[in-house]
Amino acid sequence: MSILEEKVKALVERRSVARLGGGQKRIDAQHAKGKKTARERLALLLDEGSFEEFDMFVQHRCTNFGMESSHPDGDGVVCGQGTIDGRLVFVFAQDFTVNGGSLSKTMSEKICKVMDMAVKVGAPVIGLNDSGGARIQEGIDSLAGYGEIFERNILASGVVPQISLIMGPCAGGAVYSPALTDFTLMVKDTSYMFLTGPAVVKSVTGETVTQEELGGAGVHSSKSGVAHFAADTEEDAIAQIKKLLSYLPQNNMELAPQRPTNDPAGRLDDALNTIVPDNPNKAYDMYGVIASIVDDGDFFEVHKNFAKNIIVGFAHMGGRSVGIVANQPGVLAGVLDINASRKAARFVRFCDAFNIPLVTLVDVPGFLCGTQQEYGAIITNGAKLLYAYGEATVPKVTVTLRKSYGGAHIVMSCKQLHGDINYAWPSAEIAVMGAKGAVGVIKDVTEEEYNELFCNPYQAAQKGYIEDVIEPRNTRFRVIRALEVLAGKREERPAKKHDNLPL
Ligand code: HXC
Repeated sequence: MSILEEKVKALVERRSVARLGGGQKRIDAQHAKGKKTARERLALLLDEGSFEEFDMFVQHRCTNFGMESSHPDGDGVVCGQGTIDGRLVFVFAQDFTVNGGSLSKTMSEKICKVMDMAVKVGAPVIGLNDSGGARIQEGIDSLAGYGEIFERNILASGVVPQISLIMGPCAGGAVYSPALTDFTLMVKDTSYMFLTGPAVVKSVTGETVTQEELGGAGVHSSKSGVAHFAADTEEDAIAQIKKLLSYLPQNNMELAPQRPTNDPAGRLDDALNTIVPDNPNKAYDMYGVIASIVDDGDFFEVHKNFAKNIIVGFAHMGGRSVGIVANQPGVLAGVLDINASRKAARFVRFCDAFNIPLVTLVDVPGFLCGTQQEYGAIITNGAKLLYAYGEATVPKVTVTLRKSYGGAHIVMSCKQLHGDINYAWPSAEIAVMGAKGAVGVIKDVTEEEYNELFCNPYQAAQKGYIEDVIEPRNTRFRVIRALEVLAGKREERPAKKHDNLPL
């Protein structure tokens, strides 16, 4: 064997040791918890044979508490590049088998390197999180490492899509990196996110709570909204992320992806002509409307279980990737409250940042009132959605199906917030408020008179506040044509350092 051959052999051997991370025993322990290893996850996520690893031989530099005696190659995170459905992505996967995936300074340098690469070449970053948090032996160096990552998250925001999968513990300040990214997905039963665990909560507040109740996937995907998606298994998580990516451009300089479709743009749906009930207080299924108008009825929902009174998610229309925002009359009558406003505002801003046109379906009775909402700052939170629509320069096509009252009418992509093409169904009621409320305030009018004058789309149509009143069954066709017309839209805004979104 030549010297080079020996060196090659040594390299191959060193690589195979590195690939074992913390060793077989710890890999077995990881499997026993129902979790995959970092490398197994990457193998599922990336196209076969596409992964190229960076920094496999990086080792930590810590000399405290016996750390100097162990220097595993790779140091608790697997980083690199690969493709998903042939499209480039950058990835980092924390390896729980090495010091519990805890974050050392060198680990943060590896993560920052892939993030810098992603921004440099314009490709999404996907982080697979499974970590005991700051590596305690490294003290402040570990915190500095988090700071470096957070700063990268901020710099990359709005430049390349950033996606976080939570596949194990994610605690302490470590949760703020996922929070700074565009989408967070949690795996049920095996992942959690919280600032401090149940023991500290008990000692500080006296509250007794389990990990799951405090920060499990169920809680964050339904109550707090911290997680946009929850998955039953790691396989399910990875499948969801692949699907999500299929709607997104690689970076903010690209247009949203287009794909061929066999679903005819001119497909009419007669069922839509009867979907809105005669009784204005009766609900109908907005999901049915969405399924009817998007390509192949395929809708990828974001925040499915959080603030269900508004629906947001991705679909294709005429092959174009679009962001759908729709009030859901079936939940709280589709009212806008704090959580619905926050949810939709974040989604609208994401779509605008990444050139994804917005299709808005309106049936909203107004903003939710009352002390709970006022004390929780519905004013500021509602303004977020107003702001998000008003600043969005992507094509905005809006269809009002039924109610569009008051402030909520303005917020939901109205003409004056530069809605590009606004349609209404004949069932639309575009007015300051519903008839019941109105006749309580202005006495010399009956509900019938008010309905006749205001609760229809024609007041708005007469004034040019909507482009047209359309037959419901034509909605798909009209929206797709509007999107085609708007494909070349250009809109400039005044130069500024940055905006001051009402936070
Ligand atoms: C160093 C750590 C570690 C950490 C785990 N390990 N967390 N090493 N720093 N933060 C090590 C363990 O010592 C153990 O090593 C191995 O990882 C596996 O951990 P186990 O405890 O055996 O696993 P498990 O029972 O599954 O428990 C996982 C865990 C627990 C719940 C995450 O390890 C834990 O509570 N860790 C500490 C969490 C924490 O408080 N982190 C700091 C948060 S504050 P051996 O060699 O024995 O196998 C923070 C600030 C960030 O992160 C601020 C950012 C701005």
